[in-house]
Amino acid sequence: MKKTLFLFSLLLLYAPISYSNPNPHTVAHAELTNHGFPIGLLPSSVQAYSLNQTSGHFSVVLGDSCKLTLPPDNYVATYSRTITGKIDQGRIADLDGIRVRAFFKWWSITGIRSSGDDLVFEVGMVTAKFPSKNFDESPDCEGQRSSS
Ligand SMILES: *[C@@H]1O[C@H](CO)[C@@H](O)[C@H](O)[C@H]1NC(C)=O
Repeated sequence: MKKTLFLFSLLLLYAPISYSNPNPHTVAHAELTNHGFPIGLLPSSVQAYSLNQTSGHFSVVLGDSCKLTLPPDNYVATYSRTITGKIDQGRIADLDGIRVRAFFKWWSITGIRSSGDDLVFEVGMVTAKFPSKNFDESPDCEGQRSSS
């Protein structure tokens, strides 16, 4: 079942897809779902993705670096062109490439955990909790024209 889904996603990845689709079905988004995370953690502009199924280390390459405003508190977040980390069921660790602006500073998000209906974002030792449903849709990057 999981393998079928993976192959299906792979086919979709190589089919022409519109990046303005709010619910993209790339392998990267499918792997988020497979590990218990909502797809909205990644913007829609994923171009390449790799995952070591053994270790869980992944890298995501976006079309370009990306700026987003996250609901509901309108935090500004930036995604580097390449995002790396280690994904397990309900847990993303060693995250590199996502920063959020809050309290007049930029903070690097180092990990994300799924906890019931919430997502727990880790910034070093500090955590912040948000409802997962805020991340049900994969956002488009700001100031970029959607390409297809
Ligand atoms: C995947 O991870 C395992 C365990 O860390 C490692 O032994 C293996 O070399 C990795 N494979 C690739 C293709 O990097």
